[in-house]
Amino acid sequence: MAGNGPPIDETAVGERYAAWFGRGLRGIGMRYVFSRRGLWVINTPFRRILATANIGPQDRVLDLGCGIGNILIALAERIAFTRPPIGVDVSPALIDLGRGEIRKAGLDQKIELRVAPASRLPFADASFDLVLTSHVIKHLDDEALAACFREVARLLGPGGRFLMWEFKKSPLSAPIFISARATGLPPPFRLRSESTLRSALTQAGFQRVHRVSTGFFIVPPVPRLALLATR
Ligand SMILES: C[S@@+](CC[C@H](N)C(=O)[O-])C[C@H]1O[C@@H](n2cnc3c(N)ncnc32)[C@H](O)[C@@H]1O
Repeated sequence: MAGNGPPIDETAVGERYAAWFGRGLRGIGMRYVFSRRGLWVINTPFRRILATANIGPQDRVLDLGCGIGNILIALAERIAFTRPPIGVDVSPALIDLGRGEIRKAGLDQKIELRVAPASRLPFADASFDLVLTSHVIKHLDDEALAACFREVARLLGPGGRFLMWEFKKSPLSAPIFISARATGLPPPFRLRSESTLRSALTQAGFQRVHRVSTGFFIVPPVPRLALLATR
């Protein structure tokens, strides 16, 4: 059962993203917007949100749904991690593009990317200190969301942090529906309220959940929600 709403096929979402990032003008635009340089357009306050997690060189970091690696590249340019941060994404095509971006940034060996779905993460228990995920969980149906949060709780040791941000369910969220349709390839998505996400986190075993201020986003003009959950 996928809970509230139709099931979402994780692999199919990855294939939609691969098509979105493919050839032609749309692909060029997507690759720019989701590159490290494009972060300021679509993910404006990501640094401010990340700052709340106090990330240091000793942290073992996982980026869930890392796309083409933009956030990990931006992080690794500032922090000399003792162990390479890892990104996973369900789309093999985006992981390939991400490896190219990492090479271009001169960060080979400093960031690792792997293909994996958010609901089944191929890592040992307590192998990370911080898991972050940006604009991914809307693509999970309720069953996959619960599985993903359980997986993240398993991967984090006691005191581990889970930082997420995403479009929020709100009467002002209509632009996301319009802009998704305008691309011609909207991957399925489901927006959720803060209380829904908090209760899913608590059920997965997180002890404390704090709201993080997202500040001002430029594109698209849709309200965001950021939460920091601690094991
Ligand atoms: C909107 S992009 C966000 C990329 C990046 N996190 C950022 O904020 O720029 C969503 C990404 O999530 C990935 N994704 C969607 N569903 C996923 C799933 N079930 N498991 C892993 N990755 C997923 C997509 O392939 C895509 O790369």
